[in-house]
Amino acid sequence: MKKIIVSAPGKLMLFGEHAVVYGHPCLVTAVNQRMYVRVEILDEEQFQLDAKDVKIKNYKKYLSQLGKGEIPDAAKFVEVAVKNFYEKFRLRNGIKVTTYSEFSFQIGFGSSSAITVCIIKALAELFNIKLSNKEFFDFSYRVVLDIQGKGSGFDIAAAIYGGTLYFQSGGKIIHPLAIHSLPLIVGYSGIKADTVSLINRVRDKFAKNNKRFQEVCAEIEIIVRRSRQEIERANWKIVGELMNRNQKLLSELGISTSKLDDMIAAAISHGAYGAKISGAGGGDCMIALASEDNIKSVERAITRAGGRIIPVETNAKGVKYEK
Ligand code: MEV
Repeated sequence: MKKIIVSAPGKLMLFGEHAVVYGHPCLVTAVNQRMYVRVEILDEEQFQLDAKDVKIKNYKKYLSQLGKGEIPDAAKFVEVAVKNFYEKFRLRNGIKVTTYSEFSFQIGFGSSSAITVCIIKALAELFNIKLSNKEFFDFSYRVVLDIQGKGSGFDIAAAIYGGTLYFQSGGKIIHPLAIHSLPLIVGYSGIKADTVSLINRVRDKFAKNNKRFQEVCAEIEIIVRRSRQEIERANWKIVGELMNRNQKLLSELGISTSKLDDMIAAAISHGAYGAKISGAGGGDCMIALASEDNIKSVERAITRAGGRIIPVETNAKGVKYEK
């Protein structure tokens, strides 16, 4: 029986979250914690899914029922990706999908996007369908929009291309930065954030003050452009200052929490060059930059403020086949 294993990296937003949803650029890096998907062809015309990390065991459907009826949240991205792919390329073979992850779906590393990208890569290979990177991006992004209606697609780009990217919504611009790694410290707040409700929260907060919202987004864009250059020059002290400036604007958007604020303040008061939320806010992770000498004390300070340090390497490889 033909089968294939594909993996894709998680991601961390570096700069530009929220503003990226409104057409401004952002910077994202792929991390070395990966999502794995195995797909095998079955004799019967069925879709089967095992995803034990998210408590899905023996989930089965006839292909004709894909996308119909009750779909558990944890199965949605896989099922809709398969449904869209099967409809577009008129496929009829049954498949069994098994997923496993090196990171929890709770921490905001983009497990849904990584899984979507893995599935599409695996199906394209199994059924010998050639997709350019752009087609691959568009197809995966469509799945995200079909399910959550909103989002820039930066996490899809990170899963496909890997590395560290300068990205504009919908994949209008996807430019890799010429770097090897970023000395990032990552602290998890212990709270799962819901991206769509946080996007909506920002929209509602500024419903009557669009002018200020535009100004905030324009300031974030300036920070993103400058950060891109300074990251490429490895000017970490300046990148840290830019993080602090970006964080101030994110606080104004109303998506920080007291826990994230405490973790960020603790990092800075223990010598970090800078620190900020990474992603939608409301929970998930914060990131900090520090010199080699200060890393340990910054990590300890984040932990004392109630965070959990997640060791990551940045600039990881994009989607790939596994042996
Ligand atoms: C969420 O991690 C980042 C947002 O900018 C949403 C998105 O870009 O899709 C809030």
